[in-house]
Amino acid sequence: MNKSILVTGGAGYIGSHVCKALADKGYRPITFDNLSKGHEWAVQWGPLVKGDIHNTDVLMSAFQEYQPVSVMHFAASIEVGESVADPASYYYNNVSGSLNLVRCMLAAGIDKLVFSSTAATYGIPQSKYIDETHPQQPINPYGMSKLMVERIITDCGHANGLQHIFLRYFNACGADAENTIGESHSPESHLIPIIMQAAGGQRDKLFIFGDDYGTPDGTCLRDYIHVTDLASAHILALEALLNGAGSNVFNLGNGKGYSVLEILNAAEAVTGKKIPREIHDRREGDPPILVASSEKAKKTLGWKPKKNLEDILSSAWRWHCKQNGITQQ
Ligand code: UFG
Repeated sequence: MNKSILVTGGAGYIGSHVCKALADKGYRPITFDNLSKGHEWAVQWGPLVKGDIHNTDVLMSAFQEYQPVSVMHFAASIEVGESVADPASYYYNNVSGSLNLVRCMLAAGIDKLVFSSTAATYGIPQSKYIDETHPQQPINPYGMSKLMVERIITDCGHANGLQHIFLRYFNACGADAENTIGESHSPESHLIPIIMQAAGGQRDKLFIFGDDYGTPDGTCLRDYIHVTDLASAHILALEALLNGAGSNVFNLGNGKGYSVLEILNAAEAVTGKKIPREIHDRREGDPPILVASSEKAKKTLGWKPKKNLEDILSSAWRWHCKQNGITQQ
């Protein structure tokens, strides 16, 4: 029998790519998702349990039925801007939901957890590259909610033996090579899919949120990492836990910062389309620069991200064209 892994948020963007990677490695991903943001079509590699992480009964019966050897926890609200406008829903979904999940895991005797954390827990960088020892001082409720969950899990690690790996992602993007799953949020707020919409004519233009930051061209720098590279890191983290390596934390990024303007220009080259843009005010809660040091993941897990910016943009464009019935030239 394949080992079952319960994946909360498995119908979402990163979760579904990880489910595919799990199935490729011979695991059985059990998607646990309330489908508030996730998509049933993205659940292709194992069963779907429709449920909310706040719902103890549904969680406990899924644990009972599938006997997972580990949980991978993606289910969360994920938008920085929205978290500034509506912090209560972020603390409810992310903190209270995760707390319930952890309590259910402890009650069911499941002691391994891979947690989807974020670069947003660091706040304003104090060094060019952010490694795992960088102080965590989030500047938005989204980052704070994820940090609070890290603390809860850490404490339960000490007190209850919950072994955990935190994966702090930088900017996830791109789509699966087979073009069966990809990024699809509604409404969309992330830079690369919005650029693709502007390139494909599904929106008039892209608003650049601030061009007066202290960066080379004035727009924010981010570290864009392909979702299949993220997925491969999740498999390595899971296997480290299953092999008894113990709790740990890893940053996942490419170690290279691209500005909003650089991404736009590269996207014009990849899509062959002119992308209309307009400078807009800064978006509240945005740090000017976030670039990872992922040396620890490379050394400890043997992680090797393989995709560059062109791979990211071309896979995102291919996925966007498929979703919108655009014939690619
Ligand atoms: N941006 C624009 N215009 C847009 C959308 C975004 O200029 O229409 C800019 C943002 O201001 C930011 C950059 O593009 O400077 C990237 O923005 P995204 O919304 O794509 O991503 P964020 O960096 O805000 O956040 C993402 C994830 C978080 C994660 C974070 C870690 O959404 O979950 O990366 O770096 F925590």
